[in-house]
Order: sequence, then C-alpha cells, then structure tokens
Amino acid sequence: MTEQKATNVTWHEGEVTRAERGQLLGQKGATIWFTGLSGSGKSTIAVALEKVLHERGHLAYRLDGDNIRLGINKNLGFTAEDRAENIRRIGEIAKLYVDTGVIVLSSFVSPYCADRDVVRALHAEAGMDFIEVYVEVPLEEAEKRDPKGLYKKARAGLIKNFTGISDPYEAPEAPELVLHTAEMSLQQEVEAVLALLAARGIIKS
Ligand code: ADX
Repeated sequence: MTEQKATNVTWHEGEVTRAERGQLLGQKGATIWFTGLSGSGKSTIAVALEKVLHERGHLAYRLDGDNIRLGINKNLGFTAEDRAENIRRIGEIAKLYVDTGVIVLSSFVSPYCADRDVVRALHAEAGMDFIEVYVEVPLEEAEKRDPKGLYKKARAGLIKNFTGISDPYEAPEAPELVLHTAEMSLQQEVEAVLALLAARGIIKS
C-alpha cells in the first residue's frame, strides 16, 4: 500500500450519494478490469463493449494502457516499480469514475497479481464492484498477431522488460471471468461480459 504523505487531511462528505448518482444513470458503477498479454485483445473487447453499452443507454468509459501512458502516466516506464504505480493510479482513477456511477472498462497488461489485488482491495474497501476479466491467449498466438510489431522488436532485444518475452505475466488465480480469445469470437466475448454485468445487477438484463 502506498504511504499517506500529506498530514492533516480529512475526507469531506457530499450531500449526493453514489447510489443517487447511479439512479440518475440507471446503472451501477463498476470496474471491469481486463488483464492479459499485449495483443491478447483487451482493448478490442473494451471498445466493442463500450459501443454496445452506449447503444443500450449505459455510460461506460475506457481507461486504456497506451492512452493513459500518453497522458497522466507519461512519467512512468515498464519497470516493476513503475508498473505498480501505473496500476495504482489507474485503480484510483477507476474508483473516481465508479463513484460517479460510470462503468469503467480498464485495459492494462497489469502483469502482477499483487498490483491487481491492490486495485481489488481499494474497490472492496469502498464497497465497489471490481470484476477481473482474464483475457487469455497463448503467447505464441499473441506473438503471431503482433498488432504493433512489439513482439518482433522485443525478440530482437530492442525493447527491454517486455511482458511475455523478457518480463513475467502472472495469470489471475481467481478472475471473475476468463475469455479465451484464440477460441472465441469478439461477439461471444462481449456477450459473456454483458451477461456477467447483468447477473451482478450492474446493468439491467
Ligand atoms: S502495465 O504492465 O503497466 O499494465 P500497460 O497496459 O500500461 O502496461 O501498457 C502496456 C502497453 O504498452 C502494451 O500494450 C504495449 O503497447 C506497450 N509497451 C511498451 N513497452 C512495453 C513493455 N516493456 N511491456 C509491456 N508492454 C509494453
């Protein structure tokens, strides 16, 4: 857990509750946390899911690894320490969105169990839903897809600490959902997440 640096700071409560904001939107805020290798399909699933949710009248918002690293987390690299801080900040940002009633679709490699568990614990402490979705793909398949040409570069030694090649990926031990993207269609993947959201009462079925 990150240490609290500032002293003499206290939480200031508002007069509108999270539940009331959720009622306004007709949904319950929640974080859907997609984790998996680069090229596993996390962002593709999040984009498709955001579109379907929007069409059904739900407010969802994507937090995406590459996008976030071009903005608020531009000062972080890929050491284990920087990845931990990357995920911690995303966890806090996701919590803010969930508190407003938004369905957060977060796509980060997030290779370390401990870092993901920090975000899970942050949500649990706040009474918020955290749904971990393991976007599973065999490394060989991710490497074959190589949509950004990064595996090729990593194999050539041009990218250090590359997840799956020169850095570890720790698969979730008890994710809420596993999507085997080498075997499922995008539509099946989206439907599986939608079914889980409905079962959890995050959206109406
Ligand atoms: S995380 O490990 O800290 O969760 P994050 O999801 O933000 O990673 O960023 C991963 C994205 O950055 C990948 O999709 C890939 O495009 C790019 N990337 C660049 N260098 C690396 C690296 N060394 N390891 C993994 N991904 C990298």
